[in-house]
Amino acid sequence: MTSSNDTQDFTPKAESAWLAKSASQTRGSDKKEVQFHYDISNEFFKLWQDPNQVYSCAYFEKDDYNLEQAQMAKIDLSLGKLGLEPGMTLLDIGCGWGATINRAVEKYDVNVIGLTLSENQKQHIEEHWLANYKGDRTMDVRLQPWEDFSGQVDRIVSIGAFEHFGFNKYDDYFKNTFDWLPDDGVQMLHTITIPEDTEIKAKGLPLTMSKVRFIKFIMDEIYPGGRLPLASMVTDHAVKAGYTVTQEQHLQPHYVKTLDTWAANLEAKQAEAIEITNEEIYERFLKYLKGCADLFREGYTDVVQFTLQKA
Ligand SMILES: C[S@@+](CC[C@H](N)C(=O)[O-])C[C@H]1O[C@@H](n2cnc3c(N)ncnc32)[C@H](O)[C@@H]1O
Repeated sequence: MTSSNDTQDFTPKAESAWLAKSASQTRGSDKKEVQFHYDISNEFFKLWQDPNQVYSCAYFEKDDYNLEQAQMAKIDLSLGKLGLEPGMTLLDIGCGWGATINRAVEKYDVNVIGLTLSENQKQHIEEHWLANYKGDRTMDVRLQPWEDFSGQVDRIVSIGAFEHFGFNKYDDYFKNTFDWLPDDGVQMLHTITIPEDTEIKAKGLPLTMSKVRFIKFIMDEIYPGGRLPLASMVTDHAVKAGYTVTQEQHLQPHYVKTLDTWAANLEAKQAEAIEITNEEIYERFLKYLKGCADLFREGYTDVVQFTLQKA
């Protein structure tokens, strides 16, 4: 592309350029890259997330839901797809600040294992959730990549972590998770996706220079190592590993509202955010949240919950 004219339409090349960009590095985020994002400061994230610090697309099941209610609705939507029964063990791959594992114990009376690569998240879970837990079930949070996990669990949930994994790990991811589950096991995988070629053509989505620049900004400065899959990449790899995809639920408009809310919250807390971090981080995150809201609004990205059944 030689022109910087933002209105120029690159539609004919858009599909291949879009995927080529995201496929150009396929290794996924390493621990340092994950920590670069999540270990900025728990206080900073707390300023603009909901009180339970859920960091993924909320589910505005009812129009009047606030962010906290919508995040809990998303967690309940996700856990409700797993067929959890008391005493089972749930593995949460990329457990963030722990809201999902806590809800699973509270609502379904299960044992939980949460994996994260963020030291701040692990510390928060230990101090906030584990220290206050009085029940008999085990709540285990580990600073461990799924790549190093081994063991048997009954159900798996992964919300907003797959984007970090990298295309060349997909085969291992589905094979390993499949092996960790019993014959009747279920995994609910929630991830952002990019549109298929046909969708790009049908919607006439232009890959403008400003979009290309924004994607580069996200890859370089927000989620280094991260890559977004096509929905078909998820289902193809899952099926190859032996899973049956029993449901695919698209939540695109819900991410628009989530990101708009996060951006508005951050803007409203500008002074505190800069005091906790600095002006550069505040501006960087505001640009990321607003720009991603636009990507979802315009149809450049979607977010999908895949229910993967072993039998
Ligand atoms: C966007 S956050 C989502 C957190 C949480 N699921 C939620 O919805 O709030 C992504 C999470 O994935 C974790 N993560 C990224 N790569 C990982 C890996 N290879 N193994 C385990 N966790 C990973 C990060 O540490 C972080 O907790």
